Amino acid sequence: MDFENRIVSPDYCFNQDEAELSLRPKTLSEYIGQDKVKENLSIYIKAARQRNETLDHVLLYGPPGLGKTTLAGIIAREMGVNLRVTSGPAIEKQGDLVAILTSLEEGDVLFIDEIHRLSRNVEEILYPAMEDFSLDIIIGKGPSARSIRLDVPKFTLVGATTRSGQLTAPLRDRFGVLLRLELYTPEQLAEIIMRSAGILNIQTDRDGALEIASRSRGTPRIANRLLKRVRDIAQVEYDGVINEKTASAALSRFEIDELGLDDFDRKMLTTIITNYGGGPVGLETIAAAIGEEAITIEDVYEPYLMQIGFLNRTARGRCVTQLAREHLGLNDRPNGGGQQSIF
Ligand code: ADE
Repeated sequence: MDFENRIVSPDYCFNQDEAELSLRPKTLSEYIGQDKVKENLSIYIKAARQRNETLDHVLLYGPPGLGKTTLAGIIAREMGVNLRVTSGPAIEKQGDLVAILTSLEEGDVLFIDEIHRLSRNVEEILYPAMEDFSLDIIIGKGPSARSIRLDVPKFTLVGATTRSGQLTAPLRDRFGVLLRLELYTPEQLAEIIMRSAGILNIQTDRDGALEIASRSRGTPRIANRLLKRVRDIAQVEYDGVINEKTASAALSRFEIDELGLDDFDRKMLTTIITNYGGGPVGLETIAAAIGEEAITIEDVYEPYLMQIGFLNRTARGRCVTQLAREHLGLNDRPNGGGQQSIF
């Protein structure tokens, strides 16, 4: 299994998530979960609208697949403006960003996904644009080079990143609103699944939705993807209705266990237990041992494993918990293993 096609990968995958667009909520009231974020956003949006001003720049951060792009769309819609979508890696040169900024209309929302991946050059163009809605452009080279100042329409930048710490300080400081998205609870995911099932005309009962939800790693993108895969199996092998039995049978077939762990997670946890006594072990060591990039482990695997109490990040490294050992059936080390062994 390669990482790109991992069914429980939270990253957007064109093949698997095509229907995501139609499932995205369009207003804050349709958006399920992230109550704190919604509450704050709705106040800021109302205040900006009352004053007839553009909304302050917003930084959304948190693990992938939690709805950052969706929220940018909702912000634009609730402010009654256009949404422009791009990403850090897509803006290669200063000129690319200048072209985008000068083509905006007053009040528009510019969404930059993976904003931590902007190059320093491009970032420097963004600073005066965010602060004063102006651009400092250098024309020409050498002694005849000169700088001209250009105004751009007032806009709202919505930046998204997996961790706010990945941003340079000058960029982070220019956001007026910082919002952290959290993993969803199984109950919230079940609600999202019921809503999606309604839109896609899939017959699902509450227990079926909860069964899928509890294996979706706190992530709506995974929940919606699993819903569609389970529907296929329910349709071909059962009577087309998703209930606890059909959902459970289908998900076991994908080798996603009842907590949503797949081969990747099990490999990582098992490696830490069998090779490093359960930890503490450094992130780079784990990355080398399982052949995965450290940043992927940190942003994609670990948030969920920590949420379910299977992994702790400590100053000395990562530790697998007793709970994880019990789940994996690797509970038979003579010293009890895991984090206890270091104390
Ligand atoms: N689909 C994906 N994320 C959602 C959310 N937070 N609320 C409702 N539907 C969703």
